[in-house]
This record gives sequence, C-alpha cells and structure tokens, in this order.
Amino acid sequence: MSLPSFPAARPRRLRRDAFSRAMVREHLLTPADLILPVFVLDGQNQVQDVASMPGVQRMSVDRLFAQAEQCLALGVPVMALFPVIDPSLKDPNGREATNPEGLVPRAVRALKSRFPELGVLTDVALDPFTSHGQDGLLDDTGYILNDETVAVLCEQALVQAEAGVDIVAPSDMMDGRIGAIRDALEARGRIHTRIMAYSAKYASAFYGPFRDAVGSAANLGKSDKKTYQMDPANSNEALREVALDIAEGADMVMVKPGLPYLDIVRRVKDEFRMPTFAYQVSGEYAMIKAAAQNGWLDHDKVMMEALLAFKRAGADGVLSYFALDAARLLKQG
Ligand code: PBG
Repeated sequence: MSLPSFPAARPRRLRRDAFSRAMVREHLLTPADLILPVFVLDGQNQVQDVASMPGVQRMSVDRLFAQAEQCLALGVPVMALFPVIDPSLKDPNGREATNPEGLVPRAVRALKSRFPELGVLTDVALDPFTSHGQDGLLDDTGYILNDETVAVLCEQALVQAEAGVDIVAPSDMMDGRIGAIRDALEARGRIHTRIMAYSAKYASAFYGPFRDAVGSAANLGKSDKKTYQMDPANSNEALREVALDIAEGADMVMVKPGLPYLDIVRRVKDEFRMPTFAYQVSGEYAMIKAAAQNGWLDHDKVMMEALLAFKRAGADGVLSYFALDAARLLKQG
C-alpha cells in the first residue's frame, strides 16, 4: 500500500472535531460486551467488602438480586458466579463442588427463577472447594491429577446445568475437560448448556485479590498452579490450547488475564474467528482502583480505555468487575 505523504496526508484533519472522530471510530464498547463477575456468600442479608478490591463485595444471594436488576436495567447480559465456601465444607477432594444443594446450584436456581432473561455463568473448578486451594485432586506427591479431576468437573458441571445455569465456564485447565464435560452434558440431554472455555489461562500473579475474595489464598499458601495453568512466556501454546477446546466442543473461548495478554486475544481471534472473551482479572481491577484512590489516574477514563482496548484487540466481550460502572457511564453517554 502506498500512502500519500505530508502535507496531502494530515491525519490530524480527522481528529480535529468530535463529529469526524466519531465518523472514523473503529471500535465501540457497549454494555452487551460486559459480563459481571460476583462473589456469592451463603446465608441471608450478608455483605462483606473485599479489602484488595475496593468497591467489590461478597454477597448472599438475596443481596445479589439488586445486582441482577442492575445488569438487566443497564443491558449487561450475563452475571458470573464465584462461590465463597465455608471452610468447614472444604476437603482435599472438593466434594462440596458436586452437591446439588450446594451454594452455587441454589444461587443459580434463585437467580434464574427471578430473572429468567439474565444469563448466568458458573465457574467449573474445584479451588473454592478444596482445603488445599488447588483446582483439582492431588496425588501423594502433590501433583494435580488430570483425569480424576476431570471426572469430578463433569459432575460439577452437570449439577450446575441441572440447576439451570446457561453457561458453564471451566477455569481449571485440566487436559480434555471440555470434551468430557460436553459429552456428559449431551448424555443428560443438556444440549443447550453453553460452554465458555477458559482456554488460554495463564499461571498469573494477577489473580491475587480473587483468591482473597473466595478465600483460597490462605489454603494455597506458597504453592502455585504452574503444572496446569500456562506459562506467561508462551503464545503459540495458547493457540494449541484454544484449538483443542474448540475441537472438544467449546462454544466460546477465553483468554485470561486480560490487558497484559491482549496479544493472545488478537492471535486467537485472527486464527479461529470464534466468539472470544477476555477476563480483566482481579489484579487488573485492583491496580486501577489503587492508582485512582491515590489520585494518580482518572478512574473512569482509565476504566473505559482499558475496556475499549479489549474490543480493539478482537474480544467479543470482557468479564470485568467494572461491568456495572462502565455500563452506567455508557448509558449516560
Ligand atoms: C479459579 C479461578 C481463578 C480466577 C477465576 N477462576 C483464580 C485462579 O485460577 O487461581 C481468577 C479471577 C480473577 O483474578 O479475577 N479457577
């Protein structure tokens, strides 16, 4: 492509006025691009602040109804549930994850019966339920067992599907789990349950505040998740992971974390042209909040710029703790 050069080309011409900036704008963020992650507590009328995530609270299901109403009013189509499990219910095998009367299935039933038109997404992973904070079952050496874990994840996904969840989102990074979960859902006639696969999920330190929020940080201690989550140094491997999940039956794929991994979002979108999501994780949220609280960054402007960047990188949507704040700003214009 041969481009005219200055002064025939003066790129600033189009930037001069708001109308011409609007005319040539390439990407747009809308409330429908956002998914709101929430932390669910058991009981009634419970609300707790998450210290490392200012503005985010853990809430009992009755208190979540107001958030669900906000999502609907503002056009945020989906809420993603993350349970905060009582320590007395945690064990090495995460058995509570498959309890049909557990916190997650109860929350799903309550939300779907009250707000049938709101999409509800649940995480498929064992870490909120295990006493060691890992996403799977351990062998004698502490290695996270793959196939044994996948069997439990299938049961967990089925319990969520039978409770009426719309989307299951396996976030565990075990090999073969998407295919196994898809088969299990089909075998039970759950043909409408959508799978959003955390396909390229990195072993990231940006998850720190989330682990505080669900109470897995203390259990995890100094151990990490590097034998199943991806090495932040890798990019081609992300494409192989995504290819596997698509072949196994994922409806949507995800890259996580978000902003530091926008190159991965772009490669995944270009390569597969699948519905592609990104997770702006807890640490990304905490960084923006902390800088804004110090007066070092303009909260709203940085929030909107970061969210728009996901769209520019090729994401179809973003899981973000800012979802309601951003949707409110978008509504105000
Ligand atoms: C658990 C899970 C994690 C997140 C979502 N699901 C944490 C982890 O893998 O340790 C992180 C989300 C965030 O940081 O906002 N499988």
